[in-house]
Amino acid sequence: MSIKLNSGYEMPLVGFGCWKLDESKASEVVLDAIESGYKLFDGAQDYGNCKQIGEALKKSPVPREKLFITSKLWNSYHDPKHVEEACDKVLSDLGLDYLDLWLIHFPIAQKFIPFDKKYPPGFTCSLEDDKFHFEDIPLAETWKAMKSLAKKGKVKSIGISNFSGALIQDLLRGCEIKPAVLQIEHHAYLQQPRLIEYVQSQGIAITAYSSFGPQSFLELKSKKALDTPTLFAHDTIKTIASKHDKSPAQILLRWTTQRNIAVIPKSNNKKRMIENLKVTDFDLSEEEMKEISKLDKELRFNDPWDWDKIPIFI
Ligand SMILES: NC(=O)c1ccc[n+]([C@@H]2O[C@H](COP(=O)([O-])OP(=O)(O)OC[C@H]3O[C@@H](n4cnc5c(N)ncnc54)[C@H](OP(=O)(O)O)[C@@H]3O)[C@@H](O)[C@H]2O)c1
Repeated sequence: MSIKLNSGYEMPLVGFGCWKLDESKASEVVLDAIESGYKLFDGAQDYGNCKQIGEALKKSPVPREKLFITSKLWNSYHDPKHVEEACDKVLSDLGLDYLDLWLIHFPIAQKFIPFDKKYPPGFTCSLEDDKFHFEDIPLAETWKAMKSLAKKGKVKSIGISNFSGALIQDLLRGCEIKPAVLQIEHHAYLQQPRLIEYVQSQGIAITAYSSFGPQSFLELKSKKALDTPTLFAHDTIKTIASKHDKSPAQILLRWTTQRNIAVIPKSNNKKRMIENLKVTDFDLSEEEMKEISKLDKELRFNDPWDWDKIPIFI
């Protein structure tokens, strides 16, 4: 199953997330995912594993044109003069000549770090200390550079991630090419129904990340995640799962895909990656969908306010 993007291309409804793959086994894990049937791979410059993904793509039994490869411009390359070289670096690390989707990772412009000094430049984009360093680059300028890559054919579709309604509205006012996709944190504890209604009404597809809520942030020792009950053991999710003879993870993913929102679960484990792919061949009842909607806590785990009081979601 797929979503038709406003760029004319089809994006698979279920993909494979590549953040925090086991570093030593990333290539093997991606190859497992290809062999399991995943077509969409969601990567980013910041994940530091483009080369390993590229190695898997080289061995892929599935031809390039049947795959959908997403990557993301890191915060340190927002200056229009760096957007193309950032994309070229990703393409060369992946061993590809085009991306299916190229996203602005965050609406945050950080200090440029030359590739030969540090790549990827990391969370703070600093060479000399552990403080965050920013640059004055308006998003509209970055977007124009993204658009020119789409026009050159280096990327088939362009999109955004971690943008709020106000920023999306502003981008739409001046843009020649609309974002095809918005990628956001979206799970039962952070539902954002008004953002989703607005974005879908503008013909922009949505991809949900961190569909399992706190789970992904446990290994980062996030206090918020450690203090939040796991969604997998939530009574509502467990009851619905046993009714359908599915796992709690499959219920969380189906609650999302059933609303035409793409998911990109990540797993280092072959059994779980296969399980996560089977989330479009059954339906939750309207009542079950509503029950899950009641679990919203407006609880965001990936919030730049917690990094350095960066105000993108306030
Ligand atoms: N745009 C952005 O800013 C942004 C931010 C975050 C993530 N993303 C993208 O979204 C993808 C997915 O989000 P995520 O990695 O944060 O989290 P996620 O997919 O919600 O959760 C991953 C965690 O769940 C576990 N898991 C996976 N399948 C499971 C299952 N069936 N049952 C039980 N546990 C399971 C994984 O452990 P195992 O590996 O051990 O299975 C891992 O700990 C990322 O990989 C990345 O591509 C984008």
